[in-house]
Amino acid sequence: MFDRQKKGDRAVLVLPHARGEGDAARRAGEFTELAKSAGAEVLGVISARVEDPNPRYYIGTGKADEVAEAARALEADLVLVDHVLTPVQERNLEKHLGIRVVDRAGLILDIFAQRARSHEGKLEVELAQLKHLATRLVRGWTHLDAQRGGAIGNRGPGETQLETDRRLLGERVKMLTKRLEKVQVQRGQQRRSRLRNTVPRVALVGYTNAGKSTLFNALTSGGVYAADQLFATLDPTVRKLEDLSCGPAVLADTVGFIRELPHDLVAAFRATLAEARDADLLLHVSDAADEERERLHRVVDKVLEEIDAGEVPQLQVMNKIDLAGAEPRIERDGTGKPVRVWLSAATGAGLGLLRQALGELLGGERVQSALQLPLSAGRLHARLKAAGAISGETVDEHGWQLRIDAPRSVIAPLSGGDPTETRLLRQLLAVAE
Ligand code: GTP
Repeated sequence: MFDRQKKGDRAVLVLPHARGEGDAARRAGEFTELAKSAGAEVLGVISARVEDPNPRYYIGTGKADEVAEAARALEADLVLVDHVLTPVQERNLEKHLGIRVVDRAGLILDIFAQRARSHEGKLEVELAQLKHLATRLVRGWTHLDAQRGGAIGNRGPGETQLETDRRLLGERVKMLTKRLEKVQVQRGQQRRSRLRNTVPRVALVGYTNAGKSTLFNALTSGGVYAADQLFATLDPTVRKLEDLSCGPAVLADTVGFIRELPHDLVAAFRATLAEARDADLLLHVSDAADEERERLHRVVDKVLEEIDAGEVPQLQVMNKIDLAGAEPRIERDGTGKPVRVWLSAATGAGLGLLRQALGELLGGERVQSALQLPLSAGRLHARLKAAGAISGETVDEHGWQLRIDAPRSVIAPLSGGDPTETRLLRQLLAVAE
């Protein structure tokens, strides 16, 4: 039997595509990024037209020969295929090429294995990897002799742990499932206790590389890992969000979304993505400089639906305006509610606007009302003005006639402790109720 090689991340990429399938260049770019994220050196890219998948290799025999030749010429020791292969196809292709083959699911799992940080995330990855391997073992492929910490597709739980014994594998899967359930119960309890505290929860979601981690850091000034690698974030990291007009909130970062995330992976990461499902508000981050942002936006929405987070209110964040050449601003709908904020997480431009929008959205309803202020209430007038709560005003010798239009949460804390001011504000808030 063909001896599966253990090491080597010098890769040739194979990109199957059907006729008329658009955005081939983007897919190639993205798969190259995925491969690099996993630590591969990309030596060559071969596209393969697949109209009628060959059951033996998925790609055609002629194409398989071409890949074999290229891999030899480039001295590659790994072939990465941008499609999910059946275990049999993967094995046949390996035999035919004489080097290791990893499909899209295996590659994504490998990246997940490298990135997982929390206990829960690690358990989820290990479980998904073992299940992925199990399908290969079931088909009689008992030649998994790679070592822990080896090459792409071999990382994570490590195939030596499995040995070749399906019984052991089954036991481990059972044990992990149980542990994961326990962690998830604990996690659910934590979430519920946050709920009891009624601190609003905000979760960052977005296509991979949109800038979620960078924004998370900018908003919470923490040191979470952000790198120009797909899936820099795997586990939701939760921090307190302060300086909002509505009081503190909780902000969670989540894993980057990606097209064609293998379905069982989405299921495996349900728990990780529960932060998104249980949030009061999603910050849906897009790369404003990316021409395909609308399509990617839809991909993210689709995954959100799959994890039952489709109904959670969203605030759109158009990030990277420094690259897109746009100005920071808030876009509002017909009722004045913020729907989209343009900013740059990297330069910080527009972050204040995002905080303002968050405060408005989380702070509840708006107060829209008339307010008479005597000239003696000049300081309150100044504070209302600074808070952007005044939408119109006239002034005469009796004082100001104001039109107030602002979220309740912005207005409520504006009293300076002066009894007259407090009374005026109380009246304003009572009228608006
Ligand atoms: P995943 O974890 O893979 O989902 O990525 P992410 O969405 O968390 O993206 P991350 O914050 O890691 O950012 C991806 C890349 O974009 C990094 O190289 C960032 O430095 C860069 N980036 C993020 N925000 C901005 C921005 O406002 N402007 C520019 N120019 N680059 C940015």
